[in-house]
This record gives sequence, C-alpha cells and structure tokens, in this order.
Amino acid sequence: MIRTVRVGLQARGYDVLIGSGLLDQAGGRIAPLLKRGRTAVVSDTRVWALHGARLAASLEAAGVAVSPVLVPPGEQTKSWEGLAEVCDRLLALELDRGDLIVAFGGGVVGDLAGFAAAIYKRGIDFVQIPTTLLAQVDSSVGGKTAIDTPRGKNLIGAFHQPRLVLADLDVLSTLSDREMRAGYAEVIKYGLLGDFEFFGWLEAHGPAVLARDPQALAHAVARSVEMKAEIVAEDEKEAGRRALLNLGHTFGHALEAETGYGEALLHGEAVAAGSAIAFRFSASQGLCAGQDAARAEAAIAAAGLPTGLGAVADKPFAADALVRHMAQDKKAEGGKLTFVLARGLGETFVAKDVNPETVRRFLIAEGALP
Ligand code: GLY
Repeated sequence: MIRTVRVGLQARGYDVLIGSGLLDQAGGRIAPLLKRGRTAVVSDTRVWALHGARLAASLEAAGVAVSPVLVPPGEQTKSWEGLAEVCDRLLALELDRGDLIVAFGGGVVGDLAGFAAAIYKRGIDFVQIPTTLLAQVDSSVGGKTAIDTPRGKNLIGAFHQPRLVLADLDVLSTLSDREMRAGYAEVIKYGLLGDFEFFGWLEAHGPAVLARDPQALAHAVARSVEMKAEIVAEDEKEAGRRALLNLGHTFGHALEAETGYGEALLHGEAVAAGSAIAFRFSASQGLCAGQDAARAEAAIAAAGLPTGLGAVADKPFAADALVRHMAQDKKAEGGKLTFVLARGLGETFVAKDVNPETVRRFLIAEGALP
C-alpha cells in the first residue's frame, strides 16, 4: 500500500509517497513531470552502488535517459566545492530548465542536490528520493536546501520545494541499525513536539519501527511526514511554527559542533540528546513536569539513543564552549538564545529570550565542565 501525504503549498504543493516498491515505480511517477525524457540523478557512490541500477532501470523503462552525477558519501560533500562540482556536471550535461534533477540519497545528497536545483540556471525542478529514515521523515520534505561552510552547518542555502518525494521503505533495509536509530530520533521528535498520542504509540511500537516491521515503519514515517507537511504548509519559511521542528537542535548542534560533525556523533543522535536535554531544561525552569521530562528521556533511551552530555564516550563537554556554539546559532538574536522548550509531552513552544548564563549553569548541573 502506498500512502500519500500532500504538502499544501498551492502552486508549489506536492505529494510525498510512502511505501514499498516505490523505486520500481519511480519512472512512471517522474516521467510525467519531464518536458523531455532525460534527468540527472545526483546520488552518492554508496547509495548508487546499492540501489542505482533499480532506479535507473525504472526510469529507463519509462523512456527517461539517466545521467548519474555521483558524489562521495559524507557531510564533507555538502560544501562549496561539492556544490561547484555538481553544478558543473549539470552544465556539462546541458540540462535546461525543462529538465529535472533527482536527489537520490540521504540528507547530505538531498540538501546538496536541492540547493544545486535552486540555483542552477536560476532554478530547476527536482524530485527527492530519500534513502535514509532521517531523510524520509525530515530533510526531504519542506524544501530546506543548503551547504555547510567552515563557519557552520547549513549557513548557505535556499528554500526550494521538490515536485515530488518518493519514500521507498524497502531501501531502509540496507541502513545500519545505528543509522535507523539516528533517523528514529527525528520520529520521536514529532511526538514530543506536537502529538502526545503519536508519542504514546512510539513508546509501544518503537522497537517494531527500529526492527523495520513494515506496518510499524509505514505508520511512523507517514505520521511524521503528515506532521511535517502540516507545519510546512502553515509556515513555509520558518517565520513561526516551523521552528518547532528544531526541537533538540540548539543543544544538539552545539554537541555536533564540539565533536566535528562526524561519525562520533550522528546528527540524529545529537537531536536525541538535545531533545532530552531540552525537556530537562524545561523542567528545570518550571515549564513542564519533571515526570514528562523523565518519560521523554526514557523513550529516547529505550531506542538506544543518547539522552545527555554522555552522548560521546570519553568526550567531556565544556559549558562555555557549548553556549558559544548556541550563541552562533542562526536563530540566536541580541545576545539571547533560542530554544524549543516544552510545557508537556506533545506541547512545545519557541523561547527566543533564554539567558545564556541560565543555560550555562544548567549545563554544569547536567555534568558539563565549568
Ligand atoms: N528540519 C527542520 C525543518 O525542516 O524545518
């Protein structure tokens, strides 16, 4: 069964299809979006080796010529150099505005190919085919595209909505358990930020989702995408409510920045730890009940995800360094820090005026070095 979630953005609206076997249907679903029968598929060498032949066969069977544009796997590809390389390859292929780019991979490929699509010849259509749980439930939906610079992650980018998202649950079978858990952190995030019932469902069915039980996985991805679609339709450019999707991200980004955005701490792991910390911080400020923070933490821990500053073995974090990263966050304004904080499970809000000193003292109580 294929589930369809609509991202309701009028002329820029699009469907997110979720289910099994979508790679084999990709040709039939993408061909009608093309003016002439050709496309460039931006992917990384690992994803392409695993699944490229199936995607190419499906597109070719629908009369679409495929030019793969392959990049090395890993966050370092999301750079000025990586962007220049992809754009140059697209120019060499003589892609024009009537053509379309397919972003086929995880969050790195989606962000990079999406940004290339946003600026190539002042904008060309693209389709997202996300291959990680994290990309299926979060980064492929909503049109955020970006690259990193040495000064920080996702600092250069554009909002550019895809024409279609195909989330094939079958491709998740080749993900490592660790990558599944990291994506699952973003799934729990949806329950925590705005759907108490979904959170309760995840407490019961989380193990089945992580074990890739088809029914459980389909529900978890579809509910996450529904929530994201609803928020994006209301607030595409993050003027307000979309910021709730950043639950766990201010604390999480600081941990990632301190660990160098690498294998030591995956983005989803940082979001997991950051979400648990955000709930405890909310409880420490008297905003939510301590038992809600404990329940959020228990659900995150039950998935084998980190819940605090012990996220990276043998890596102590210094409170000052973490607060410094938070102050550089895109959302920090006027010397105050911005966080998504909680009033309860499934009830969050954006706090834009958090005093850095309060956070510093809290982090020391959490075990950070003074
Ligand atoms: N990942 C957060 C957002 O798309 O707004």
